[in-house]
Amino acid sequence: MAKVLVSDPIDQVGIDILSQVAQVDVKTGLPPEELVKIIPEYDAMMLRSGTRVTKEIIAAGTQLKIIGRAGVGVDNIDVPAATRQGIVVVNSPEGNTIAAAEHALAMMLSLSRHIPEANQSVKNNKWERKRFIGAEIYKKTLGVVGLGKIGSHVANVAKSMGMKLLAYDPFISKERADQLGCTLVDLDLLFAESDYITLHIPKTPETTHLINKEALGKMKPTARIINCARGGTIDEDALAEAIAEGKIAGAALDVFEEEPLGESKLRNYDNIILTPHLGASTAEAQVNVAVDVAEQIRDVLLGLPARSA
Ligand code: NAD
Ligand code: MLT
Repeated sequence: MAKVLVSDPIDQVGIDILSQVAQVDVKTGLPPEELVKIIPEYDAMMLRSGTRVTKEIIAAGTQLKIIGRAGVGVDNIDVPAATRQGIVVVNSPEGNTIAAAEHALAMMLSLSRHIPEANQSVKNNKWERKRFIGAEIYKKTLGVVGLGKIGSHVANVAKSMGMKLLAYDPFISKERADQLGCTLVDLDLLFAESDYITLHIPKTPETTHLINKEALGKMKPTARIINCARGGTIDEDALAEAIAEGKIAGAALDVFEEEPLGESKLRNYDNIILTPHLGASTAEAQVNVAVDVAEQIRDVLLGLPARSA
């Protein structure tokens, strides 16, 4: 019988699907050296963002036929190394779209209404109504960077809440942006005009530190930035400096250059909200991605064709 290693927490529904055709071992949180040792006995791997599938793990995975990423980004898998070895890499491109978009929207509203600090204040037995005067998002301008699946849903909801929409995405047509009620602009204009900026881009050489000191310098002092996409698209040192100097009004981050977040200046400011990569963490999304990816792994183990990431 084929053997599947599940190396990050995955919804039980995915494990049940895989168990129809394989022996499934759930071993989460293993250090890389342990993974290298045990991987030779497995035909497939299923993971989220917690496991880094390095070229060493892939080289040791001599039986591996498929690696399934229960989520969108496959940036924690060395895809070229897997491809060279004939291992298919699959993902779930749509299973967590709504969850990630809703997290970005929740971050935007939390920033505007100081919800994390107000919650803490009441729990500390205070009643500080004057301290937490917020800002409305109605009639404010939202700059969406990356108008793909998640960015589009954020744009749709934001439009219905009365926001004006700007977008920057070099791969999206004007017709698509028009359909979403977004005006496509260049990045400089988006930075200069937006009250809120939300990132929905992959991490690529072009997007690494897209938000750097220079970009932050072009934003309004009242601007707030949200990143529920990928760590490394914002230069975290430059962001902490911009917040410290009042160059922008706030930031909400779900993703970081290093995860878990180590020592970081980002923790020092009330107007920076931090969550531990929770964008996809809804019950619904975890079922969606688990089913999506488990079915693809099952099919490959049965000798059927795969849809690669
Ligand atoms: P998508 O592929 O549908 O959309 C990405 C968009 O970014 C595309 O429209 C693409 O044209 C655009 N893009 C690419 N390079 C760009 C650039 N240089 N400048 C501007 N736009 C650029 O992907 P998606 O499903 O919307 O996911 C977006 C991001 O969110 C991905 O990085 C994904 O990994 C991440 N994500 C994070 C979480 C989380 O838990 N926080 C959950 C799901 C997805
Ligand atoms: C993704 O790319 O899907 C996200 O990072 C979410 C996750 O894997 O938890």
